Amino acid sequence: MKPPLKIAIAGLGTVGAGTVQLLQRQAELLAVRAGRPLAIAAVAARDRQRDRGVELSGLSWYDDAAALAELPEVEVVVELIGGADGIARQVVEAALARGKHVVTANKALMAVHGTELARLAEQHGATLAFEAAVAGGIPIIKTLREGLAGNRLSRVYGILNGTTNYILTTMRETGRDFAEVLAEAQRLGYAEADPSFDIDGVDASHKLAILASVGFGRPVDLAGVHTEGIRHVSRLDIDFAEELGFRIKLLGIARLTDHGLEQRVHPCMVRREAPIAAVEGVFNGIVAEGDFVGQVVLEGRGAGAFPTASAVVADLVDIAAGRRVPPFGVPAAALASLPGAAMERHQGAYYIRLMVVDQPGVIADVAAALRDENVSLESVIQRGRAPPGEAVPVVLTTHVTVEAAMRNALAAIGRLSTVLEPPRMIRIEDF
Ligand SMILES: NC(=O)c1ccc[n+]([C@@H]2O[C@H](COP(=O)([O-])OP(=O)(O)OC[C@H]3O[C@@H](n4cnc5c(N)ncnc54)[C@H](OP(=O)(O)O)[C@@H]3O)[C@@H](O)[C@H]2O)c1
Repeated sequence: MKPPLKIAIAGLGTVGAGTVQLLQRQAELLAVRAGRPLAIAAVAARDRQRDRGVELSGLSWYDDAAALAELPEVEVVVELIGGADGIARQVVEAALARGKHVVTANKALMAVHGTELARLAEQHGATLAFEAAVAGGIPIIKTLREGLAGNRLSRVYGILNGTTNYILTTMRETGRDFAEVLAEAQRLGYAEADPSFDIDGVDASHKLAILASVGFGRPVDLAGVHTEGIRHVSRLDIDFAEELGFRIKLLGIARLTDHGLEQRVHPCMVRREAPIAAVEGVFNGIVAEGDFVGQVVLEGRGAGAFPTASAVVADLVDIAAGRRVPPFGVPAAALASLPGAAMERHQGAYYIRLMVVDQPGVIADVAAALRDENVSLESVIQRGRAPPGEAVPVVLTTHVTVEAAMRNALAAIGRLSTVLEPPRMIRIEDF
């Protein structure tokens, strides 16, 4: 057997400690699969005293993570600290610049600096691997990059954030409001104390930008991702979705259109029968559509110590076995500048919820505003009666229309004196 692959791990938090455990517990199996042992040579974190529930004796400890990149015997640096800049970026750049391979779970880093890091890796003959950065334990990067290499993709979409999927699922199952379910998710440790990264769609947008780059062979373009979160999704919307045969999911979608590549993260109405609608709770799910393969669906745990460690270690086995693939599937210079499609040009159907005064003529005014923008209606639901001056919900669904027209119509509807709250809109997807 070949000599061991010497690994340094920067960051021993949730993912770092999980990775150490996996490498220790599966050592024999991994050695056979990789053709050589995977040996942790050094680790770095901030607090040396902290009990991490893992065996660290015999490993060299560094307070300064950047020092790992300098160790001559180390072939791979595993970055599990996090953050788009700062120490994480420093460690990764230093390691690549010295020709050391890098494995990272850091979606923020890859979404912001992914293309330039891929170039740096290439220049120095190093591998940059980031399976764990998107959808935790689901091997979606390898699937898109290698498993589907024979296809041109038309669309990749998925549930890329477990926290928001848990919140939406629980709201539907229990009939409770967003704020209440969010507070519970925080208590259970599914949501951070500052949940904005998850619930405003930022985390999902990082992952989508990476997926779009791997799937469509273009430079990572985080700024090109249209991003909306789930704060405005109400119980009413969830109930109406059920009535209309839909589920509401926060999806990341990359889709090839006549105008270029659409990249968007926002709440979506999806048919209850669609495979992605069945991905519930903290689970992630991803669907890829290729011209030869058709539809491929993957589902699994998108976070957590062991699922994420599973993805980190898969990258390490590839490196140990000498399997080399460019980070984004093609050499950095071959990443084509497929243009991004502006959200205003998005075409799709829409769900609209209005809170209106219960009086004759209101629906006619709303219909007129839609007609003025050439938006045609598919259905209208008005339920219940309200005392004079109080609001009742009215729900409309449209045929396929253009986003810019929809926005103009909603602005006009919002100005009607009989419409009491800002109109809510959720895009309806055709899968
Ligand atoms: N958690 C998940 O389920 C998950 C899933 C997929 C991807 N990821 C990604 O994986 C990465 C790590 O996430 P995590 O949840 O494991 O984070 P975490 O639990 O907060 O762990 C971060 C680790 O980095 C160490 N660290 C922070 N600043 C440092 C510094 N200046 N020098 C050396 N070490 C430093 C911390 O040291 P101390 O322990 O001493 O404080 C800690 O061990 C992130 O990029 C995250 O986005 C996480």
